[in-house]
Amino acid sequence: MRIMVTGASGYLGQVIQRVLAREHEVAAYGHRQVAAHRQPLDLREAAAVTAAVERLQPDAVVHCAAYRDPDFCEQHPAEAWRLNVESARALLASLPAAARFLFISSDYVFDGVHPPYPEDGERHPINYYGRTKVAAEDLVLARGNGIVLRVPLLVGPGPRFQQSGFIAKAAQTIEEQAVSEWDDVIQRFPTAIDDVAAAVAFLLEREDTAGIYHFSQRTGGTQYAWVQRLADIMGVPRARLQPARSLVARPARRPVNSQLANRRLAALGFDRQTDFETVARQVLATRCP
Ligand SMILES: NC(=O)c1ccc[n+]([C@@H]2O[C@H](COP(=O)([O-])OP(=O)(O)OC[C@H]3O[C@@H](n4cnc5c(N)ncnc54)[C@H](OP(=O)(O)O)[C@@H]3O)[C@@H](O)[C@H]2O)c1
Repeated sequence: MRIMVTGASGYLGQVIQRVLAREHEVAAYGHRQVAAHRQPLDLREAAAVTAAVERLQPDAVVHCAAYRDPDFCEQHPAEAWRLNVESARALLASLPAAARFLFISSDYVFDGVHPPYPEDGERHPINYYGRTKVAAEDLVLARGNGIVLRVPLLVGPGPRFQQSGFIAKAAQTIEEQAVSEWDDVIQRFPTAIDDVAAAVAFLLEREDTAGIYHFSQRTGGTQYAWVQRLADIMGVPRARLQPARSLVARPARRPVNSQLANRRLAALGFDRQTDFETVARQVLATRCP
């Protein structure tokens, strides 16, 4: 297949680009971070999107690009809508009907009150980021062969240690601070970016896939619980970590437990669950000595 990957310079997109390139011709697009094997494309410019799709004539699009920081989206709603919703509209409008479209969505489409959520669970976002994901999902699902893949908090090695998400930030904090405080309220299901990329390839390589899929690590825990496990790997005493039992006020509300149930992917026989310790060691191995 000839596959267009948006957000290929991002945390998840760079792995999806690498995994898909093993079997397919991949045309990868970033925005500000350009590289030899990646083209710049501002997805907010509908005319540029149309021109890129018409030039490429892809068999499939994997749409990863988005503003993914819920606080940014809450504070810049027009900007968030423009990228998170309108870019999907522009891509879909110029794509031939037979081409596949896989959209990366989020567990934040749910309110977190009644977990675990099946693929057909009722969406009820409690922040603006979640609302943009719901709106983009609807555009994708209106296309008969559209695929929505919802994922939760992602973990894994980025291009550099500093770009390796939650695990890198937590490792740095627990090393630098004699005592650090960690949220002990919200349940998180840190899911390996390599596993998500494998799920994307699996869904695209089958011809009978369409609609909504969930992919999440099954084990949940609060930030405090996950950081305790990270501290064990790093040899940092758990006594240096403190639980925070009330939520810090932030611009965007977060669901308390938006656990995704992977029913449809499991029914198709896809089940990769790289455990947290393995991913944490992969991330820590990318640190400069
Ligand atoms: N990370 C998570 O924990 C998480 C959890 C659930 C769902 N998701 C979803 O997964 C997807 C990928 O997230 P991520 O963590 O990989 O995000 P990320 O690291 O922030 O990457 C965002 C990507 O979007 C691109 N982008 C930004 N503005 C653009 C524009 N105007 N035109 C074209 N591209 C633009 C960026 O390009 P440049 O960097 O080149 O500017 C980058 O490649 C998103 O849809 C996100 O909502 C992520």
